[in-house]
Amino acid sequence: MAQAPTLVAELEGLVGECAARLDQALTLEDLESLRVEYLGRKGRLAGLMAQLPGLSAEDRREAGQAANTVKNNLTSLYDERLAGLNKAARAAALADFDPTEPGLVPFAGSLHPVTLVTAEICQAFTELGFSVVTGPEIETDYYNFEALNMPPEHPARDMQDTLYISDAVVLRTHTSPLQIRTMLSRKPPVAIVAPGKVYRRDSDLTHTPMFHQIEGLLVDEGVSMADLRGTLTAFVRRIFGPSTNVRFRPSFFPFTEPSAEVDISCVICGGKGEHDGATCRVCKGTGFVEILGCGMVDPNVFAAVDYDAERYTGFAFGMGVERVAMLKYGIGDLRMFFENDIRFLAQF
Ligand code: DAH
Repeated sequence: MAQAPTLVAELEGLVGECAARLDQALTLEDLESLRVEYLGRKGRLAGLMAQLPGLSAEDRREAGQAANTVKNNLTSLYDERLAGLNKAARAAALADFDPTEPGLVPFAGSLHPVTLVTAEICQAFTELGFSVVTGPEIETDYYNFEALNMPPEHPARDMQDTLYISDAVVLRTHTSPLQIRTMLSRKPPVAIVAPGKVYRRDSDLTHTPMFHQIEGLLVDEGVSMADLRGTLTAFVRRIFGPSTNVRFRPSFFPFTEPSAEVDISCVICGGKGEHDGATCRVCKGTGFVEILGCGMVDPNVFAAVDYDAERYTGFAFGMGVERVAMLKYGIGDLRMFFENDIRFLAQF
């Protein structure tokens, strides 16, 4: 039969022994294995307590009380050490923390240059009284070509390498169909700009199969070529600066008569034709770069939308957004717009 005094002595011996071992525990893992060893279900304390049932009733009471005290002592030793280790861990973490160090600025993203320039161009025209309209990228042959004075077999269709969906349906090759859609749904006076994606079967260093254009249209009584010149000159100076020179060069578009292309003084060489002692590579020495096409709305276009060409006149224009952005920001390579390289995009 087990003896109460020996068992009590063994139980009480656990406290000192465990306290010494806890002092050596340097990690939470050490601590946990000590907890299992002393306080666990199959641990040292449980092992000694398993002997209790073999004692006489009186001895059992004495040894039972000792076991309880020992258990409480072991538990508080363990809790104390756990608190100590946690505190040390926090102190160590704080030792590496420098509250005076500047914070990390999170990467916030930025607008794509095409988005920025589109917004800026639309804004310039909105301030002049134009409103912004949009329309479908999948367009019928009628709106994209025919109503714009380009009947089937018209040679001007060759100017634009069209992506056909079917004989009568195309991916719009320009934003000019918005002229037609606008005039069919509104009566004069109209003044709109129409930004959007356009598509052409064309892909090389200076062409991508998708790019962006902005179309403009103004129709009213008494609109003249002078209004066209004044409006577009004001626009160009707003975007490229007040000292920009503007030149209107005769050209041809089926939907305007007369037609012109607008050149601005070269943004790189300032119109001098040379840059850093060499021929300017952007304007190729001419001092001018082309920026948009324009003209007075052709009476055939008015006929297609049932506008009275005797009463109304108007001007129209169209420009490439990537081109404006390249000139404005000095971007040399069209492909940069579509690569989505963060190092490029973050500059805007
Ligand atoms: N649609 C023409 C193009 O894509 C651009 C253009 C030229 C639009 C003259 C016009 C205009 O409205 O009057 O090349």
